[in-house]
Amino acid sequence: MKPFTLERYFAQYEFSTRYLLSSSDCDGLPMQSLLEMADEECRKLWDELRIGYTESLGHPLLRQEIASLYKGIAPEDVLVIVPEEGIYIAMQSILKRGDHAICTFPGYQSLYQVAEDAGCEVTRWMPEEEHSWRFNPEFLENNIRDNTRLIVFNFPHNPTGSLPTQEDYARILQIAREHNLYVFSDEMYRLLELDAVERLPSACEEYEKAVSLFGMSKTFGMAGARIGWLATRDRELYGKLAAYKDYTTICSSTPSEILSLIGLRNGDAIVAKHLARVRRNLALLDEFFTAHADLFEWVRPHAGTIAFPRYKGKEGAYALCQRLVREAEIMLLPSTVYDYDDQHVRVGFGRENLQEGLEKFDKFLQTNQSR
Ligand SMILES: Cc1ncc(COP(=O)(O)O)c(C=O)c1O
Repeated sequence: MKPFTLERYFAQYEFSTRYLLSSSDCDGLPMQSLLEMADEECRKLWDELRIGYTESLGHPLLRQEIASLYKGIAPEDVLVIVPEEGIYIAMQSILKRGDHAICTFPGYQSLYQVAEDAGCEVTRWMPEEEHSWRFNPEFLENNIRDNTRLIVFNFPHNPTGSLPTQEDYARILQIAREHNLYVFSDEMYRLLELDAVERLPSACEEYEKAVSLFGMSKTFGMAGARIGWLATRDRELYGKLAAYKDYTTICSSTPSEILSLIGLRNGDAIVAKHLARVRRNLALLDEFFTAHADLFEWVRPHAGTIAFPRYKGKEGAYALCQRLVREAEIMLLPSTVYDYDDQHVRVGFGRENLQEGLEKFDKFLQTNQSR
């Protein structure tokens, strides 16, 4: 398989660079404060836990808690997986060599790479930057072929923070239905909409051939638990997904399932805290990009923890990011890791120490001419 460029870039700098201005997750929850939130049942499960194998489909209480996040989804429709694993097994289960898929782009690489490496053709569905990174449903309509089998999208979108309107989203699902296509909906940044009114229904609630991916990593600040889930009402597809898991992880991590159960049962409080931080950080970014409007063009995101401002410096985004790492201990992701262009950077605003990093970035820009 082709290397995962973004993950390779993170591997190079994430644990050796001081200011991470590109992370997509909310700060990792401290174990102690999570355990303090546990209700009596969870506390008992945790205290008496045996680190043996668990049920392959996921702990029944966890699946029940997950199902309650959706309308019309039963615990039986939920398969607990690692988020990245969910993408892999869904692509392998839905697609075969020669199929065609349409996928939002730029994006998290596995959303299109697994299909490409399996011998499928993938059409890249690009957003319109000039319209707040809108993914125009018309593009979908115009690019469906006889062998199209799957539409892949990721809303709220990594890396632009784009979120379709309710009308566009309904149209997208309607197109999938009209053509009897499968839908893979990556909803890893769900519940982090700045205005709850803009929250979209989950694809698995709206369309019976859709599979939705969500998990603990971003919204709940529990990336290290490595717990996510697929939800679908398509029983045949569910069976294939579950069977595939026997060849990847078999079952999930026993402690992580209980920690995730605690996280979800306290989800409202955790998400409220994360959203407050996101709002505070976005205000800082508004200020920062206003002060540096000569260098950056800022499209304020509607949801999630990341955005994709345009860098206007002649040197390009990759050169800027390399200088930032070397000279200011700042990690920013250049759009080249998305195989996109060399004129955007990804900023992340789910972390507590963003202000510190931005101050450092500001000093860097004041003392270093853009090139
Ligand atoms: C859109 C999207 N989908 C899936 C994932 C994978 O999540 P995880 O790293 O928890 O496996 C990520 C992680 O960055 C992501 O941004």
